[in-house]
Amino acid sequence: MSEPARCRVCGEGLAPFLDLGEQPLSNDFATAEESSDFRFHLEIAACTGCTMVQMVHEVPRELMFREDYPYLSSGSTHMAEHFEAAARDALERELRIDDPFVVELGCNDGVYLKHVAAAGVRHLGVEPSAAVARRAASLGVDVRVDFFDEELAREVRAKEGPAKVVFAANTLCHIPYIGSVLAGVEALLHDDGVFCFEDPYLGDILATTAFDQFYDEHFYYFSVHSVQAMARRHGLELVDVAPQAVHGGELRYTLARAGARTPAPAVEAALEQERAAGVTDPARLREFGERVRTNADELVAVLEEARAAGRSVAAYGATAKSATVLNYCGIGPDLVPVVYDSSPTKQGRVTPGSGIPVVPSEGFRASYPDIALLFAWNHATEIRAKEQGFADAGGSWLTYVPRVQVD
Ligand code: SAM
Ligand code: TMP
Ligand code: ZN
Repeated sequence: MSEPARCRVCGEGLAPFLDLGEQPLSNDFATAEESSDFRFHLEIAACTGCTMVQMVHEVPRELMFREDYPYLSSGSTHMAEHFEAAARDALERELRIDDPFVVELGCNDGVYLKHVAAAGVRHLGVEPSAAVARRAASLGVDVRVDFFDEELAREVRAKEGPAKVVFAANTLCHIPYIGSVLAGVEALLHDDGVFCFEDPYLGDILATTAFDQFYDEHFYYFSVHSVQAMARRHGLELVDVAPQAVHGGELRYTLARAGARTPAPAVEAALEQERAAGVTDPARLREFGERVRTNADELVAVLEEARAAGRSVAAYGATAKSATVLNYCGIGPDLVPVVYDSSPTKQGRVTPGSGIPVVPSEGFRASYPDIALLFAWNHATEIRAKEQGFADAGGSWLTYVPRVQVD
Protein backbone atom coordinates (compact mmCIF):
# COMPACT_ATOMS: atom_id res chain seq x y z
CA MET A 1 0.00 0.00 0.00
CA SER A 2 1.31 3.45 -0.87
CA GLU A 3 1.05 6.33 1.62
CA PRO A 4 -2.19 8.34 1.31
CA ALA A 5 -1.58 11.55 -0.66
CA ARG A 6 -1.03 14.72 1.35
CA CYS A 7 -1.66 18.38 0.56
CA ARG A 8 0.98 19.71 -1.85
CA VAL A 9 0.80 23.12 -0.15
CA CYS A 10 0.88 22.38 3.59
CA GLY A 11 1.37 18.61 4.02
CA GLU A 12 -1.91 17.95 5.89
CA GLY A 13 -4.31 15.12 4.96
CA LEU A 14 -6.66 15.19 1.97
CA ALA A 15 -10.42 14.52 1.98
CA PRO A 16 -11.52 13.33 -1.51
CA PHE A 17 -15.01 14.48 -2.63
CA LEU A 18 -15.19 13.72 -6.36
CA ASP A 19 -14.07 10.70 -8.39
CA LEU A 20 -14.12 11.26 -12.17
CA GLY A 21 -12.54 7.91 -12.99
CA GLU A 22 -9.73 7.01 -15.36
CA GLN A 23 -8.90 9.83 -17.76
CA PRO A 24 -6.55 10.42 -20.70
CA LEU A 25 -4.38 13.52 -21.22
CA SER A 26 -6.92 16.22 -22.05
CA ASN A 27 -4.87 17.78 -24.85
CA ASP A 28 -3.74 14.52 -26.43
CA PHE A 29 -5.42 15.10 -29.78
CA ALA A 30 -3.73 12.25 -31.59
CA THR A 31 -4.04 10.95 -35.11
CA ALA A 32 -6.24 7.85 -35.16
CA GLU A 33 -3.14 5.62 -35.58
CA GLU A 34 -0.95 6.99 -32.78
CA SER A 35 -3.29 7.64 -29.83
CA SER A 36 -1.68 7.32 -26.40
CA ASP A 37 -2.94 4.80 -23.86
CA PHE A 38 -1.78 6.87 -20.86
CA ARG A 39 -4.50 7.08 -18.20
CA PHE A 40 -4.63 8.58 -14.70
CA HIS A 41 -7.16 8.53 -11.87
CA LEU A 42 -8.92 11.91 -11.74
CA GLU A 43 -9.85 12.30 -8.11
CA ILE A 44 -10.39 15.66 -6.38
CA ALA A 45 -9.89 16.38 -2.68
CA ALA A 46 -9.80 19.27 -0.21
CA CYS A 47 -6.99 19.73 2.30
CA THR A 48 -8.16 19.26 5.87
CA GLY A 49 -5.60 21.88 6.95
CA CYS A 50 -5.31 24.82 4.52
CA THR A 51 -8.53 23.99 2.53
CA MET A 52 -6.74 23.93 -0.84
CA VAL A 53 -8.73 21.87 -3.36
CA GLN A 54 -6.44 19.75 -5.51
CA MET A 55 -5.94 16.55 -7.44
CA VAL A 56 -4.98 13.45 -5.54
CA HIS A 57 -2.83 11.97 -8.34
CA GLU A 58 -0.31 14.05 -10.25
CA VAL A 59 0.24 13.75 -14.00
CA PRO A 60 3.91 14.11 -15.12
CA ARG A 61 4.33 17.62 -16.52
CA GLU A 62 6.40 16.56 -19.55
CA LEU A 63 3.41 14.55 -20.83
CA MET A 64 1.26 17.69 -20.95
CA PHE A 65 3.51 20.67 -21.66
CA ARG A 66 5.55 19.49 -24.59
CA GLU A 67 6.81 20.58 -27.97
CA ASP A 68 3.40 20.26 -29.63
CA TYR A 69 1.11 21.49 -26.80
CA PRO A 70 -1.91 22.50 -28.90
CA TYR A 71 -3.67 25.20 -26.85
CA LEU A 72 -3.39 28.64 -28.44
CA SER A 73 -4.39 31.52 -26.16
CA SER A 74 -5.08 33.86 -29.07
CA GLY A 75 -7.69 31.46 -30.51
CA SER A 76 -10.47 33.40 -28.80
CA THR A 77 -11.03 37.07 -29.63
CA HIS A 78 -12.58 37.60 -26.22
CA MET A 79 -9.49 36.21 -24.47
CA ALA A 80 -7.16 38.27 -26.69
CA GLU A 81 -9.05 41.41 -25.67
CA HIS A 82 -9.05 40.36 -22.04
CA PHE A 83 -5.24 40.01 -22.00
CA GLU A 84 -4.71 43.24 -23.86
CA ALA A 85 -6.73 44.99 -21.14
CA ALA A 86 -4.72 43.19 -18.42
CA ALA A 87 -1.44 44.31 -20.01
CA ARG A 88 -2.65 47.92 -20.35
CA ASP A 89 -3.74 47.88 -16.71
CA ALA A 90 -0.29 46.67 -15.57
CA LEU A 91 1.49 49.21 -17.80
CA GLU A 92 -0.56 52.06 -16.34
CA ARG A 93 -0.73 51.08 -12.71
CA GLU A 94 2.47 49.19 -11.95
CA LEU A 95 5.07 49.86 -14.61
CA ARG A 96 5.55 53.62 -14.51
CA ILE A 97 8.93 53.34 -12.85
CA ASP A 98 12.30 53.63 -14.54
CA ASP A 99 13.14 50.52 -16.60
CA PRO A 100 10.58 48.10 -15.11
CA PHE A 101 10.83 44.35 -15.69
CA VAL A 102 7.87 41.98 -16.19
CA VAL A 103 7.91 38.18 -15.99
CA GLU A 104 5.08 35.96 -17.18
CA LEU A 105 4.68 32.29 -16.33
CA GLY A 106 3.03 30.33 -19.16
CA CYS A 107 3.04 33.13 -21.76
CA ASN A 108 1.82 30.69 -24.43
CA ASP A 109 1.60 32.44 -27.85
CA GLY A 110 2.36 35.88 -26.40
CA VAL A 111 -1.25 36.98 -26.03
CA TYR A 112 -0.37 39.19 -22.99
CA LEU A 113 3.35 39.89 -23.33
CA LYS A 114 3.18 41.12 -26.92
CA HIS A 115 1.53 44.28 -25.56
CA VAL A 116 4.25 44.69 -22.94
CA ALA A 117 6.90 44.16 -25.64
CA ALA A 118 5.19 46.69 -27.94
CA ALA A 119 5.35 49.25 -25.11
CA GLY A 120 9.13 48.78 -25.02
CA VAL A 121 9.10 47.32 -21.49
CA ARG A 122 11.76 44.77 -20.50
CA HIS A 123 10.12 41.36 -20.02
CA LEU A 124 10.54 37.61 -20.04
CA GLY A 125 8.03 34.87 -20.76
CA VAL A 126 8.75 31.46 -19.26
CA GLU A 127 6.98 28.84 -21.34
CA PRO A 128 7.88 25.13 -21.52
CA SER A 129 5.80 24.30 -24.61
CA ALA A 130 8.19 25.04 -27.47
CA ALA A 131 5.81 25.49 -30.40
CA VAL A 132 3.59 28.07 -28.66
CA ALA A 133 6.73 29.78 -27.31
CA ARG A 134 7.99 30.16 -30.89
CA ARG A 135 4.75 31.89 -31.81
CA ALA A 136 5.33 34.38 -28.96
CA ALA A 137 8.94 34.93 -30.06
CA SER A 138 7.76 35.67 -33.61
CA LEU A 139 5.73 38.58 -32.16
CA GLY A 140 8.78 40.16 -30.53
CA VAL A 141 8.34 38.54 -27.09
CA ASP A 142 11.45 37.43 -25.17
CA VAL A 143 10.78 33.82 -24.20
CA ARG A 144 12.67 31.16 -22.33
CA VAL A 145 11.50 27.62 -23.09
CA ASP A 146 11.46 26.13 -19.62
CA PHE A 147 9.34 25.35 -16.55
CA PHE A 148 9.27 28.16 -13.98
CA ASP A 149 10.50 27.17 -10.52
CA GLU A 150 12.60 28.63 -7.69
CA GLU A 151 15.95 27.87 -9.28
CA LEU A 152 15.01 29.51 -12.56
CA ALA A 153 13.58 32.52 -10.71
CA ARG A 154 16.82 33.07 -8.78
CA GLU A 155 18.80 32.86 -12.00
CA VAL A 156 16.55 35.42 -13.70
CA ARG A 157 16.75 37.74 -10.69
CA ALA A 158 20.57 37.58 -10.71
CA LYS A 159 20.69 38.38 -14.42
CA GLU A 160 17.82 40.85 -14.90
CA GLY A 161 17.16 42.28 -11.45
CA PRO A 162 13.79 42.31 -9.65
CA ALA A 163 10.44 42.04 -11.44
CA LYS A 164 7.90 44.78 -10.78
CA VAL A 165 5.11 42.55 -12.09
CA VAL A 166 4.97 38.78 -12.24
CA PHE A 167 1.91 37.64 -14.18
CA ALA A 168 0.39 34.21 -14.70
CA ALA A 169 -2.97 33.35 -16.28
CA ASN A 170 -4.34 29.84 -16.24
CA THR A 171 -0.91 28.58 -15.36
CA LEU A 172 -0.32 28.69 -11.58
CA CYS A 173 -3.16 26.22 -11.02
CA HIS A 174 -1.34 23.87 -13.42
CA ILE A 175 1.77 23.52 -11.23
CA PRO A 176 1.71 20.89 -8.44
CA TYR A 177 5.11 22.02 -7.05
CA ILE A 178 3.57 25.39 -6.25
CA GLY A 179 5.76 25.97 -3.17
CA SER A 180 8.82 26.21 -5.42
CA VAL A 181 6.98 28.68 -7.68
CA LEU A 182 5.98 30.95 -4.77
CA ALA A 183 9.48 30.81 -3.29
CA GLY A 184 10.75 31.77 -6.75
CA VAL A 185 8.30 34.66 -7.04
CA GLU A 186 9.31 35.86 -3.59
CA ALA A 187 12.97 35.82 -4.67
CA LEU A 188 12.23 37.59 -7.95
CA LEU A 189 9.81 40.26 -6.83
CA HIS A 190 10.73 43.94 -6.54
CA ASP A 191 10.16 45.28 -2.98
CA ASP A 192 7.02 47.01 -4.25
CA GLY A 193 6.26 44.38 -6.88
CA VAL A 194 3.06 42.42 -7.42
CA PHE A 195 2.35 38.85 -8.41
CA CYS A 196 -0.96 38.81 -10.31
CA PHE A 197 -2.46 35.51 -11.29
CA GLU A 198 -5.86 34.45 -12.51
CA ASP A 199 -7.33 30.98 -12.56
CA PRO A 200 -10.73 29.25 -12.51
CA TYR A 201 -12.45 30.07 -9.22
CA LEU A 202 -13.62 27.25 -6.96
CA GLY A 203 -16.66 29.32 -5.90
CA ASP A 204 -17.85 29.50 -9.52
CA ILE A 205 -17.12 25.82 -10.17
CA LEU A 206 -19.28 24.83 -7.20
CA ALA A 207 -22.04 27.33 -7.98
CA THR A 208 -22.35 26.19 -11.61
CA THR A 209 -21.50 22.47 -11.22
CA ALA A 210 -18.73 22.99 -13.78
CA PHE A 211 -17.23 19.55 -13.35
CA ASP A 212 -15.32 19.78 -16.62
CA GLN A 213 -12.98 22.29 -14.99
CA PHE A 214 -11.40 19.18 -13.46
CA TYR A 215 -8.85 17.74 -15.90
CA ASP A 216 -5.19 16.72 -15.94
CA GLU A 217 -3.74 20.23 -16.34
CA HIS A 218 -5.75 21.80 -13.53
CA PHE A 219 -4.04 20.55 -10.39
CA TYR A 220 -5.37 23.26 -8.02
CA TYR A 221 -8.81 24.89 -7.69
CA PHE A 222 -8.16 28.11 -5.80
CA SER A 223 -10.35 29.98 -3.33
CA VAL A 224 -9.61 33.25 -1.55
CA HIS A 225 -9.18 31.28 1.69
CA SER A 226 -6.67 28.81 0.26
CA VAL A 227 -4.68 31.43 -1.66
CA GLN A 228 -4.44 33.70 1.36
CA ALA A 229 -3.11 30.83 3.49
CA MET A 230 -0.66 29.77 0.78
CA ALA A 231 0.70 33.30 0.29
CA ARG A 232 1.43 33.61 4.02
CA ARG A 233 3.61 30.51 3.96
CA HIS A 234 5.96 32.31 1.55
CA GLY A 235 6.24 35.79 3.06
CA LEU A 236 3.62 37.11 0.65
CA GLU A 237 0.22 38.65 1.29
CA LEU A 238 -3.03 38.61 -0.65
CA VAL A 239 -3.76 42.32 -1.23
CA ASP A 240 -6.53 42.26 -3.84
CA VAL A 241 -8.98 40.00 -5.63
CA ALA A 242 -11.07 40.79 -8.68
CA PRO A 243 -13.56 38.55 -10.50
CA GLN A 244 -12.93 38.01 -14.22
CA ALA A 245 -15.70 37.03 -16.64
CA VAL A 246 -13.56 34.51 -18.53
CA HIS A 247 -13.39 30.71 -18.70
CA GLY A 248 -16.61 30.30 -16.74
CA GLY A 249 -15.57 32.51 -13.82
CA GLU A 250 -12.09 33.30 -12.57
CA LEU A 251 -10.53 35.40 -9.84
CA ARG A 252 -7.46 37.57 -10.35
CA TYR A 253 -5.39 37.46 -7.17
CA THR A 254 -2.78 40.12 -6.39
CA LEU A 255 0.01 39.18 -3.99
CA ALA A 256 2.66 41.55 -2.65
CA ARG A 257 5.46 41.21 -0.09
CA ALA A 258 3.91 40.86 3.38
CA GLY A 259 3.31 44.35 4.80
CA ALA A 260 4.25 46.18 1.58
CA ARG A 261 0.69 47.11 0.60
CA THR A 262 -2.60 47.59 2.43
CA PRO A 263 -5.06 44.86 1.43
CA ALA A 264 -8.06 46.19 -0.51
CA PRO A 265 -11.50 45.80 1.13
CA ALA A 266 -12.34 43.33 -1.67
CA VAL A 267 -10.23 40.66 0.09
CA GLU A 268 -12.26 40.62 3.31
CA ALA A 269 -15.51 40.92 1.34
CA ALA A 270 -14.57 37.87 -0.76
CA LEU A 271 -13.62 35.86 2.35
CA GLU A 272 -16.99 36.69 3.89
CA GLN A 273 -18.78 35.68 0.71
CA GLU A 274 -16.93 32.35 0.70
CA ARG A 275 -17.95 31.69 4.30
CA ALA A 276 -21.59 32.41 3.43
CA ALA A 277 -21.49 30.17 0.32
CA GLY A 278 -19.72 27.32 2.14
CA VAL A 279 -16.85 27.17 -0.36
CA THR A 280 -14.61 25.53 2.23
CA ASP A 281 -17.35 23.41 3.81
CA PRO A 282 -16.76 19.62 3.36
CA ALA A 283 -20.53 18.91 3.34
CA ARG A 284 -21.00 21.40 0.49
CA LEU A 285 -18.20 19.73 -1.48
CA ARG A 286 -19.78 16.29 -1.05
CA GLU A 287 -23.14 17.64 -2.16
CA PHE A 288 -21.42 19.12 -5.25
CA GLY A 289 -20.03 15.66 -6.05
CA GLU A 290 -23.57 14.24 -6.07
CA ARG A 291 -24.83 16.99 -8.39
CA VAL A 292 -22.06 16.18 -10.85
CA ARG A 293 -23.28 12.58 -11.17
CA THR A 294 -26.86 13.76 -11.77
CA ASN A 295 -25.84 16.27 -14.48
CA ALA A 296 -23.65 13.69 -16.23
CA ASP A 297 -26.51 11.14 -16.27
CA GLU A 298 -28.91 13.76 -17.66
CA LEU A 299 -26.50 14.70 -20.44
CA VAL A 300 -26.17 11.09 -21.58
CA ALA A 301 -29.95 10.68 -21.44
CA VAL A 302 -30.49 13.70 -23.74
CA LEU A 303 -27.94 12.36 -26.24
CA GLU A 304 -29.51 8.89 -26.21
CA GLU A 305 -32.98 10.36 -26.73
CA ALA A 306 -31.69 12.40 -29.68
CA ARG A 307 -30.20 9.29 -31.25
CA ALA A 308 -33.42 7.32 -30.70
CA ALA A 309 -35.43 10.14 -32.31
CA GLY A 310 -33.09 10.26 -35.32
CA ARG A 311 -31.91 13.81 -34.57
CA SER A 312 -28.34 14.58 -35.67
CA VAL A 313 -25.82 15.71 -33.04
CA ALA A 314 -22.40 17.38 -33.33
CA ALA A 315 -20.19 19.00 -30.71
CA TYR A 316 -18.68 22.49 -30.87
CA GLY A 317 -15.23 23.26 -29.40
CA ALA A 318 -12.73 20.45 -28.78
CA THR A 319 -11.85 21.90 -25.38
CA ALA A 320 -9.47 20.29 -22.93
CA LYS A 321 -12.44 20.32 -20.54
CA SER A 322 -14.46 18.09 -22.85
CA ALA A 323 -12.11 15.16 -22.18
CA THR A 324 -13.51 14.90 -18.65
CA VAL A 325 -17.11 14.98 -19.85
CA LEU A 326 -16.63 12.50 -22.69
CA ASN A 327 -14.61 9.99 -20.68
CA TYR A 328 -16.56 10.28 -17.43
CA CYS A 329 -19.90 9.91 -19.27
CA GLY A 330 -18.60 7.26 -21.68
CA ILE A 331 -19.63 9.33 -24.75
CA GLY A 332 -18.05 8.27 -28.05
CA PRO A 333 -18.65 8.67 -31.81
CA ASP A 334 -21.87 6.63 -31.58
CA LEU A 335 -23.53 9.48 -29.64
CA VAL A 336 -21.46 12.44 -30.92
CA PRO A 337 -19.96 11.65 -34.35
CA VAL A 338 -17.93 14.84 -34.82
CA VAL A 339 -16.48 17.88 -32.98
CA TYR A 340 -16.03 21.19 -34.80
CA ASP A 341 -13.06 23.29 -33.73
CA SER A 342 -11.20 26.32 -35.06
CA SER A 343 -7.69 25.24 -33.90
CA PRO A 344 -5.52 23.91 -36.76
CA THR A 345 -3.54 22.04 -34.06
CA LYS A 346 -6.57 19.84 -33.23
CA GLN A 347 -8.19 19.41 -36.64
CA GLY A 348 -7.73 16.08 -38.41
CA ARG A 349 -7.18 14.42 -35.04
CA VAL A 350 -9.44 12.61 -32.58
CA THR A 351 -10.57 13.55 -29.07
CA PRO A 352 -8.47 11.88 -26.34
CA GLY A 353 -9.84 8.63 -24.96
CA SER A 354 -13.16 8.98 -26.80
CA GLY A 355 -11.96 8.92 -30.43
CA ILE A 356 -14.32 11.53 -31.90
CA PRO A 357 -12.95 13.18 -35.09
CA VAL A 358 -12.15 16.91 -34.80
CA VAL A 359 -12.86 18.88 -37.97
CA PRO A 360 -12.70 22.60 -38.96
CA SER A 361 -15.58 24.83 -37.83
CA GLU A 362 -16.40 25.72 -41.45
CA GLY A 363 -17.98 22.26 -41.76
CA PHE A 364 -20.53 23.23 -39.12
CA ARG A 365 -21.83 26.05 -41.32
CA ALA A 366 -21.85 23.80 -44.36
CA SER A 367 -24.12 21.22 -42.74
CA TYR A 368 -25.82 22.14 -39.46
CA PRO A 369 -26.75 19.29 -37.09
CA ASP A 370 -30.10 19.34 -35.27
CA ILE A 371 -28.34 19.66 -31.91
CA ALA A 372 -24.91 21.17 -31.15
CA LEU A 373 -23.31 20.13 -27.88
CA LEU A 374 -21.41 23.22 -26.75
CA PHE A 375 -18.18 22.05 -25.10
CA ALA A 376 -16.70 25.56 -25.34
CA TRP A 377 -19.47 26.89 -23.06
CA ASN A 378 -16.99 29.37 -21.59
CA HIS A 379 -16.97 31.08 -25.01
CA ALA A 380 -20.77 30.83 -25.42
CA THR A 381 -21.42 34.52 -26.10
CA GLU A 382 -18.75 34.71 -28.80
CA ILE A 383 -19.76 31.42 -30.41
CA ARG A 384 -23.53 31.94 -30.34
CA ALA A 385 -23.06 35.34 -31.99
CA LYS A 386 -20.68 33.91 -34.60
CA GLU A 387 -23.03 31.01 -35.33
CA GLN A 388 -26.33 32.92 -35.27
CA GLY A 389 -27.18 31.17 -38.54
CA PHE A 390 -27.43 27.85 -36.68
CA ALA A 391 -30.20 29.04 -34.37
CA ASP A 392 -31.87 30.88 -37.26
CA ALA A 393 -31.96 27.59 -39.18
CA GLY A 394 -33.78 25.93 -36.24
CA GLY A 395 -30.76 24.30 -34.55
CA SER A 396 -30.59 23.83 -30.77
CA TRP A 397 -27.59 24.32 -28.46
CA LEU A 398 -27.10 21.63 -25.81
CA THR A 399 -25.23 22.76 -22.69
CA TYR A 400 -24.52 21.07 -19.35
CA VAL A 401 -23.21 23.98 -17.26
CA PRO A 402 -24.82 25.11 -15.01
CA ARG A 403 -27.43 22.44 -15.88
CA VAL A 404 -28.33 20.23 -18.80
CA GLN A 405 -30.37 22.36 -21.15
CA VAL A 406 -31.43 22.36 -24.82
CA ASP A 407 -32.37 25.73 -26.31
N1 SAM B 1 -1.51 32.21 -20.11
C1 SAM B 1 -2.17 31.64 -21.26
C2 SAM B 1 -3.66 31.86 -21.18
O1 SAM B 1 -4.18 32.18 -20.12
O2 SAM B 1 -4.32 31.68 -22.19
C3 SAM B 1 -1.86 30.16 -21.40
C4 SAM B 1 -2.58 29.24 -20.50
S1 SAM B 1 -2.27 27.53 -20.86
C5 SAM B 1 -3.75 26.81 -20.29
C6 SAM B 1 -1.07 27.07 -19.63
C7 SAM B 1 0.33 27.38 -20.09
O3 SAM B 1 1.23 27.20 -18.98
C8 SAM B 1 0.80 26.45 -21.19
O4 SAM B 1 1.21 27.22 -22.31
C9 SAM B 1 1.92 25.64 -20.53
O5 SAM B 1 2.92 25.24 -21.43
C10 SAM B 1 2.40 26.59 -19.45
N2 SAM B 1 3.07 25.97 -18.27
C11 SAM B 1 2.82 24.78 -17.69
N3 SAM B 1 3.63 24.57 -16.63
C12 SAM B 1 4.43 25.65 -16.52
C13 SAM B 1 5.48 26.04 -15.65
N4 SAM B 1 5.90 25.26 -14.65
N5 SAM B 1 6.06 27.26 -15.85
C14 SAM B 1 5.67 28.07 -16.86
N6 SAM B 1 4.67 27.76 -17.72
C15 SAM B 1 4.06 26.57 -17.56
P1 TMP C 1 -10.75 26.64 -24.05
O1 TMP C 1 -12.10 26.42 -23.49
O2 TMP C 1 -9.73 25.83 -23.36
O3 TMP C 1 -10.45 28.11 -24.20
O4 TMP C 1 -10.77 26.04 -25.53
C1 TMP C 1 -11.65 26.52 -26.49
C2 TMP C 1 -11.65 25.57 -27.68
O5 TMP C 1 -12.77 25.94 -28.51
C3 TMP C 1 -10.41 25.67 -28.55
O6 TMP C 1 -10.05 24.38 -29.00
C4 TMP C 1 -10.85 26.55 -29.71
C5 TMP C 1 -12.33 26.26 -29.82
N1 TMP C 1 -13.10 27.39 -30.29
C6 TMP C 1 -13.76 27.28 -31.53
O7 TMP C 1 -13.70 26.22 -32.18
N2 TMP C 1 -14.47 28.35 -31.98
C7 TMP C 1 -14.54 29.52 -31.29
O8 TMP C 1 -15.19 30.47 -31.74
C8 TMP C 1 -13.87 29.62 -30.01
C9 TMP C 1 -13.94 30.88 -29.21
C10 TMP C 1 -13.17 28.52 -29.57
ZN1 ZN D 1 -3.08 22.07 2.79
